[in-house]
Amino acid sequence: KIDALNKAFQDKIDNEIKIEPKDYMPDAYRKTLIRQISQHAHSEIVGQLPEANWVTRAPNLRRKAVLLAKIQDEAGHGLYLYSAVETLGADREQTIDDLHEGIAKYSSIFNYPTLTWADMGTVGWLVDGAAIMNQVPLCRCSYGPYARAMVRVCKEESFHQRQGFEVVTQLAKGTPEQKAMAQDSLNRWWWPALMMFGPNDADSTHTAQSMEWKIKRHTNDELRQMFVDATVPQAELIGLTIPDKDLKFNEETGHYDFGEIDWDEFWQVVKGYGPCNEERVAARKKAKEDGLWVREAANAYAEKRAARNKK
Ligand code: ACO
Repeated sequence: KIDALNKAFQDKIDNEIKIEPKDYMPDAYRKTLIRQISQHAHSEIVGQLPEANWVTRAPNLRRKAVLLAKIQDEAGHGLYLYSAVETLGADREQTIDDLHEGIAKYSSIFNYPTLTWADMGTVGWLVDGAAIMNQVPLCRCSYGPYARAMVRVCKEESFHQRQGFEVVTQLAKGTPEQKAMAQDSLNRWWWPALMMFGPNDADSTHTAQSMEWKIKRHTNDELRQMFVDATVPQAELIGLTIPDKDLKFNEETGHYDFGEIDWDEFWQVVKGYGPCNEERVAARKKAKEDGLWVREAANAYAEKRAARNKK
């Protein structure tokens, strides 16, 4: 019977029919989605921290308002995604505890520090740019709630990418010091942004199965190449240099060839030893502890109201 169910499940996927929360799904499919979507949610939430670092030091009111709006969007994305995880039967609090205990991952990129104002531009341009490249195909993910959540998330990410590129463009057109700040920022973020797409396909544990299930529509390397091809001309347009001496347009393939990623650095960061891992997790734990009184008050109020309604 299980074989028949599994076959019907894969047939649906092959025919582009979405899998919905109450439909049959193999345990491994459910587990993969819980892993990926919860890690994605954690990334959105932790991803607020590097940018929050600059809210009080934004150069003017307009920049501050835009930055605040963007950070709030990221919080919203996290909440959608935690809701999508719940549709799979996972417990939201448990997934958050897993993050706090170092069991669940979140994107490596958010373990790098934001040292200058230019980083607010570069994070929008490169980090949100890489996020869109990865997430637009997720709008066609086989699991309905994840796919639908991604539609709005991608619209907002697209705004984030544009505002980031605009910040960097202004700096690149500014004084020599401003241009140098933009270039320094690009130098620091370029390689970590390429790492966001995950290990090379040959070293990726989950890609083959996730492609068969149409959770992923492209491999890590395909998406990374698409990102490089889209971003190099943007850097050229504003007169900045990508920090890769091996970067070269390949006339035969029609794509940019690029240098080797430092995979040791990537795995160090993923395993918890990046420049800001400890700080990020500590900030999330503190936020949970500091918010305890609010949750207790909200629960007490809800209980009181329920009791009153019963009378
Ligand atoms: N940072 C941290 N961990 C990573 C990263 C990364 N950049 N890339 C891969 N990994 C982890 C995977 O989670 C996996 O570990 P796990 O088995 O413990 O979960 C391991 O490295 C091997 O990688 P893959 O087999 O390639 O994993 P997967 O098929 O899940 O692909 C990817 C990784 C591309 C990140 C995928 O999960 C995905 O598309 N996720 C949704 C998008 C997302 O999470 N984006 C977050 C950043 S964008 C933002 O938040 C603004």
